Amino acid sequence: MNRKIDVCLSPGLIDCYESMGKIVIVADIFRATSCMAVALAHGVKKIKPVSSLVECKQLQDEGYIAAAERGGQKVDGFDLGNSPFHYMDESLADQTIAMTTTNGTMALNSCKDAKQVIAGSFLNFSPLVNYLRKTKLDILIVCAGWKGKVNLEDSLYAGALVQALQLHCQVGGDAAYMCSSLFAAAKADLRSFLDRADHTHRLIRLGQEEDIDFCLSIDKYTEVPVLRKDGHLHKMSLNDMLI
Ligand code: MLT
Repeated sequence: MNRKIDVCLSPGLIDCYESMGKIVIVADIFRATSCMAVALAHGVKKIKPVSSLVECKQLQDEGYIAAAERGGQKVDGFDLGNSPFHYMDESLADQTIAMTTTNGTMALNSCKDAKQVIAGSFLNFSPLVNYLRKTKLDILIVCAGWKGKVNLEDSLYAGALVQALQLHCQVGGDAAYMCSSLFAAAKADLRSFLDRADHTHRLIRLGQEEDIDFCLSIDKYTEVPVLRKDGHLHKMSLNDMLI
């Protein structure tokens, strides 16, 4: 077993890791990558993750549905915020969304030289694990964190993925081992464990507690968002699975 799985705990550490030739899984559990799974599952055609509000506004002017979140709140002047419930609206079917969030979309755009970049969440956990078990490439999980800091929810997700792939990949370093151990300690009741998380407190303060439980639901969807060469996230297709 020579393929490795490792974890980058924050985009601020990305230069410490090699992503070239690897499959990169970006995790922003509360809530960007969870929203992306919901959107594609509800018929959104594709999603362009952008790093700035200016670029998102430009795309809105070009006809994109524009989603913008900063500090956990929807940004005025944009069509959508970052609650997964915003993306269940049937009127979004076949639409193209430009999305910018505090951390998640920047994390997605920080791994351009990866062989493949995928948005991971608990909502599409098993379909992604089943896919990764079939591939042969090294895997790097990039946690979006919060403004460069490490957060609990993304680290727990990374640990769940490391644990699910432990028979197929060699644990690539201390961060991966830490996350796997953290998940082992928390998996009996993730929601209670995350009562202490910074973003849990922030979302409760903002009146968005229902998003927390929803983003922790396992395997609600089969759609796996993968970043294509057009710079948009699409539902993974069989072609994507040939790498
Ligand atoms: C992020 O980008 O960190 C999250 O999407 C923020 C949020 O949705 O509250």
